[in-house]
Amino acid sequence: MAYDLLKGKKGIIFGALDQKSIAWKVAEKVHEEGGTFTLTNAPIALRMGAINELAEKTGSTVIGADASNVEDIENLIEQSIEILGGKLDFILHCIGMSPNVRKQRAYTDLNYDFYLKTIDISALSLHKTLQTCYKKDALNDCASVLTLSYIAAQRILPGYSDMAEAKSTLESIVRSFGYMYGNKNGTRINSVSQSPTMTTAGEGVKGLHKFYYYADDVAPLGNAPAETCADYCVTLFSDLTKMVTMQNLFHDGGFSNTMISDKLLDKYDNPDFKGE
Ligand SMILES: NC(=O)c1ccc[n+]([C@@H]2O[C@H](COP(=O)([O-])OP(=O)(O)OC[C@H]3O[C@@H](n4cnc5c(N)ncnc54)[C@H](O)[C@@H]3O)[C@@H](O)[C@H]2O)c1
Repeated sequence: MAYDLLKGKKGIIFGALDQKSIAWKVAEKVHEEGGTFTLTNAPIALRMGAINELAEKTGSTVIGADASNVEDIENLIEQSIEILGGKLDFILHCIGMSPNVRKQRAYTDLNYDFYLKTIDISALSLHKTLQTCYKKDALNDCASVLTLSYIAAQRILPGYSDMAEAKSTLESIVRSFGYMYGNKNGTRINSVSQSPTMTTAGEGVKGLHKFYYYADDVAPLGNAPAETCADYCVTLFSDLTKMVTMQNLFHDGGFSNTMISDKLLDKYDNPDFKGE
């Protein structure tokens, strides 16, 4: 059911690669709620072509941009304002990439050029986007900017590697730029820390499949799917959350506040278990 929560709002959605992408689900929900937007992804991702299907479905224009390249971001923001007919009310920054994770480098044997690329694409790209918007005065009063984070920013998940530092940096940028932009024009900036989700980026993390089931057993509500993440993002883009800013908001079915669950304890509760 749609509520017209985003009627008249204009924005940019980064990161829809295919139908499994969190950004894809958000784009569908934002469209249902009356928002209009441009879609963007790295030129190499556009070659896969799936994003055109989403663009057609949502009446959006696709603009290629490498999110680590400031010139590309400047062009993206200028073109978006022109196409949408005015300044922006929301941005979804929903991207991440680690060459170290992709190449399965151990955390104790990282390639530092890769490491810098991880931080640049997965964290600094948010700063670059916000700084460009700030300089161009591209965001309307009380706009809302969201990025996607993960609990590995706070707690170790071995296969997450240097993405953990990227997410910690990302969450820090949310606080620092949230302060600056809040003072400027009431723009709020938040991160949504999402449950493990089976997407291209998620499935690239070593051990995520097993961890997905573990998190599902621990969280009282189970893992939060991409669809409900999209619902949550819609509320955060809407005027119903105008005083929420500089927060890392867990959308994880309660996982982050649960040490262990009865369900998991029961798995150890059999006479043959010797505690080894
Ligand atoms: N999948 C999970 O378990 C999970 C959990 C928590 C947070 N997240 C975060 O959600 C966000 C979206 O990831 P997803 O799970 O939907 O996977 P996804 O693979 O569908 O999306 C990642 C996107 O990042 C884009 N990207 C990579 N490099 C880029 C660049 N240089 N410029 C522009 N775009 C670039 C990719 O093309 C892709 O569209 C990421 O920040 C991810 O860390 C994912």
